[in-house]
Amino acid sequence: MSLMRLDKFLAEAGAGTRSEVKQLIRKKLVSVNGTICANPDEKVDPEADAIVFKGKTLSYSRFHYYMLNKPAGVVSATEDPRQKTVLDLLGPEAGRNLFPVGRLDKDTEGLLLITDDGVLAHQLLSPKKHVDKIYLLTADGAVTPDDIKRLEEGVDIGDEKPTLPARAEILESGPISTLTLTIQEGRYHQVKRMMEAVGKPVLSLKRLSMGSLVLDETLAPGAFRPLTPEELQELIAGRA
Ligand code: URA
Repeated sequence: MSLMRLDKFLAEAGAGTRSEVKQLIRKKLVSVNGTICANPDEKVDPEADAIVFKGKTLSYSRFHYYMLNKPAGVVSATEDPRQKTVLDLLGPEAGRNLFPVGRLDKDTEGLLLITDDGVLAHQLLSPKKHVDKIYLLTADGAVTPDDIKRLEEGVDIGDEKPTLPARAEILESGPISTLTLTIQEGRYHQVKRMMEAVGKPVLSLKRLSMGSLVLDETLAPGAFRPLTPEELQELIAGRA
């Protein structure tokens, strides 16, 4: 592994933004192989050097993992000539091979994992892995227990096969209903088509979770952060 700047290493290890970590280094909070290093330009070997910050040895990850609270109005693509993409929201962080894991519609909000780890992405998206995706939605019309039964048993959405069994829970039923829907597939516009099939079209849609990864509600729409080591470990452990 080639040498890299200490500030870059710390930023990539999730210790803060590039300018934040420069401050931390200048404040003498970082040591390299047991010696305090106050120079952000110092070159380190990510694999061989022991870099300690706040008492913890940081490890270098080959891949990068971010949780984005996708706002409405942004497309789930890596680039687009006319529209703002989820990677535009990541700004300078996006200078790598990052991509969103699956797609949310332009008007859908909520949890989107952005990574450059193709293996993890593939496993999270594989229909064989049955990864739960939980959506919170509002729908036009009063959702009934019979609608819930149909959503849970599987509905005809115009594809070759009906949807696989799902879980649905009414949070509020009225002229506009609120519910959660848990699905394991990821067909095109799936939630919207399922709700169309029961005659209660989606008015708003937000993804709350994907497998063990739960949207951090302290992230404002459009905000992102690296996954914590615990979140990443759980996601990796749960995918097998
Ligand atoms: N289902 C949809 O219809 N849209 C999304 O964005 C996600 C799931």
